[in-house]
Amino acid sequence: MPLVLNASDPAVIEAAAQRLAAGSLVGMPTETVYGLAADAGNASAVRRIFEAKGRPSDHPLIVHIPPAEAGDWIAAAAPFAREVPAFAAALMQAFWPGPLTLILPRRAEVAAVAAGGQDSVGLRCPSHPVAQALLVAARAHGVHGVAAPSANRFGRVSPTTAAHVAEEFVDLMDDALLILDGGACPVGIESTIVDCSRGAPVLLRPGMLTPAQIEAACGQPLRERDEAAPRASGTLESHYAPRAKVRLMAPQPLQAALDVLGPDAKHIAVYARSPLKTARGVVLRRMPDDAAQAAQALFAVLRELDATGVKLIWVETPPEGADWDGVRDRLQRAAA
Ligand code: TXA
Ligand code: MG
Repeated sequence: MPLVLNASDPAVIEAAAQRLAAGSLVGMPTETVYGLAADAGNASAVRRIFEAKGRPSDHPLIVHIPPAEAGDWIAAAAPFAREVPAFAAALMQAFWPGPLTLILPRRAEVAAVAAGGQDSVGLRCPSHPVAQALLVAARAHGVHGVAAPSANRFGRVSPTTAAHVAEEFVDLMDDALLILDGGACPVGIESTIVDCSRGAPVLLRPGMLTPAQIEAACGQPLRERDEAAPRASGTLESHYAPRAKVRLMAPQPLQAALDVLGPDAKHIAVYARSPLKTARGVVLRRMPDDAAQAAQALFAVLRELDATGVKLIWVETPPEGADWDGVRDRLQRAAA
């Protein structure tokens, strides 16, 4: 079993920083989801992440950096980014620290394994106090950035609590993985990713920041993603998948399907905003009406419904509207 420790103890943060400096893995809470962290500058430590996740080694990881000193985000990014275009600097200024990852041209000599062979690097400064404390403590030990994908096995649902991380990596021993327990993640879905390495901003992965917010902050329209865009495993069609089959349905067909259920009812869970009549045996959870609340709960609910052993999870299609983009995207991938 991995070791899980309460992150409110400064000695625990220091111990985690020392583990990072020694090339070991740390489960790190961030405001979005928990990350599986290693020193971005240590190739063998980063390889351990790919191995533990079962993730192909050409799928790049996000490098997390400590907060800027005196608000100088360009200087904060400089150890990894070869160049920061003006529109990217504006995005840093507007949204860092926070749930936004920027893909930037990478310094050739750094974080090559973390970048999965791309000539770019994904950078993010998280706002979560535990992540920040860990990044600052690790820097004092010579760790300038922490590579961390979501702390789940490849293709599965991202973790939003320390217990989820422990579940994903039960087979890692306590000396191989220390998980910092920082409570439930407040955002709940992964960061918005904007590619800033091709002259104009391109949205690679929707999150809780809306396209309108991003365009307003950088003063440029977002370009559509095209075939040449770098790979992002969070953008694979099937991802964030529980074991049960997820199906998205509008409220009327969902009610109609529930009405004709016979003895199959016990294999089905429902996650919906609309009030529905369900047969006995159907596990029913209510989706919040507010997009931010729905995002915060989403992955924990999918895990919980999956754990009941149902074969199908029927989810009411989220509303239209940009504030639901992130939740809709994750549900579509879970259903693919
Ligand atoms: O909120 C988040 O972003 C969380 C927390 C832990 O920070 N991390 C996360 O990491 O979601 P991961 O690895 O599960 O997803 C990161 C995505 C992947 O789809 C990856 O391919 C993409 O970022 N990415 C990272 N570096 C990239 C690069 N240089 N070029 C293109 N995509 C990149
Ligand atoms: Mg992930």
